[in-house]
Amino acid sequence: MKLKILVTAGDGIGPEVTNEAVAMLCEVAALGGHTLELDAKRIGGAAIVQDGSPLPADTLAAALASDAVLLGAVGGNEFNSLAPDKRPEAGLLQLRAALGGFANLRPAFAYKELAVNSPLRPEIIDGVHILFVRELLGGLYFGKPRKWKRSAGKAWNTMCYTKKEVIRVARVAFQLAAKRRNKVTSVDKANVLEVSQLWRATVSEVATEFPGVALEHQYVDAMSMHLMNRPRDFDVVLTENLFGDILTDESGVITGSLGMLPSATIGGKVNLYEPVHGSAPALAGQGLANPMGAILTGALILRHSGGLEAEAVVIETAVRKVLEQGFRTPDLARSHSQGFTVLSTTEMGKKIRETVKASLVSA
Ligand code: NAD
Ligand code: IPM
Ligand code: MN
Repeated sequence: MKLKILVTAGDGIGPEVTNEAVAMLCEVAALGGHTLELDAKRIGGAAIVQDGSPLPADTLAAALASDAVLLGAVGGNEFNSLAPDKRPEAGLLQLRAALGGFANLRPAFAYKELAVNSPLRPEIIDGVHILFVRELLGGLYFGKPRKWKRSAGKAWNTMCYTKKEVIRVARVAFQLAAKRRNKVTSVDKANVLEVSQLWRATVSEVATEFPGVALEHQYVDAMSMHLMNRPRDFDVVLTENLFGDILTDESGVITGSLGMLPSATIGGKVNLYEPVHGSAPALAGQGLANPMGAILTGALILRHSGGLEAEAVVIETAVRKVLEQGFRTPDLARSHSQGFTVLSTTEMGKKIRETVKASLVSA
């Protein structure tokens, strides 16, 4: 296998967690005789400071010339007063649009070992395995007009979806559900929004192409509650851009830390891989960040871009094993550190790599 990966580590804890994901990918490649061609470019706040733009032209060109892009996180407090189109986050949104991936896959698991980290009772979260399919290129994030007209004391954004955009992401959700537990929950706000009415009608149409997959609709407000009350009832959760952003952070509560969640964006010219979490500025540079979301994102690169399913599973299993052995990053050991070994970002990365190596060598 040969894979050309562009690494855009970004800001805050982005570089720290991305280093561990890259080291893991290099280890797997070396053990399996695969070739990884790695390149690194700036994005986000780091690029604003150095290049005057959150997505410099050479970063975009390198991204488009890659098989996969691995992003850390963007954003920092020093950029918070900038207009939306000048901020670090704008660089990420421009990159997403240019790469064209519209289906953002965000798996959320409950790890038995991390049950104590969740405010939800263990019997509620035991066995949860949800796959969120978040539409990534439409809705309020990209709809026009958008503006803050200061003189008028007025601002507006536009939530817009075309039927075509809904069909393509819905098909991805149904195809994935057909390989899982055959259930799609589509989340909208069709009791209020026309856009959601189009969404609901279109998803129902697509469902007829997949008679083996059950479809249910939920309103987003109720869904945010159901996710906490009965998360095991959900298999694939399909939703639009902003609702997906919010519900996937909420699912970090099930897993025990936002730092555990990976994502893969597929369907475009180049797949984009990024952990769900952000740049966590307060943790940056101290070895406090949990690299597991980034490392699991690396596993998704192997699965979706490298065709290395077995190796992806080995990484996912290694994460479980180190948790079973009692190793934790500080976010997972806050009030429950007794009996655990708390590791820094790099120590945790190394521990998972050693576990992966042991599995691959003995296989
Ligand atoms: P955040 O995800 O950075 O942090 C939220 C909380 O989760 C914080 O308490 C943080 O310490 C914790 N956390 C997140 N990742 C962690 C990890 N790997 N290990 C341990 N703890 C972790 O969200 P925020 O504070 O709302 O945003 C900070 C900045 O990140 C903002 O500028 C935001 O726009 C940006 N952001 C970027 C991305 C991205 O680039 N993909 C995603 C989300 C937020
Ligand atoms: C995410 C982030 C991004 C989003 C921001 C940083 C643009 O919150 O990936 O979840 O809202 O999509
Ligand atoms: Mn988010």
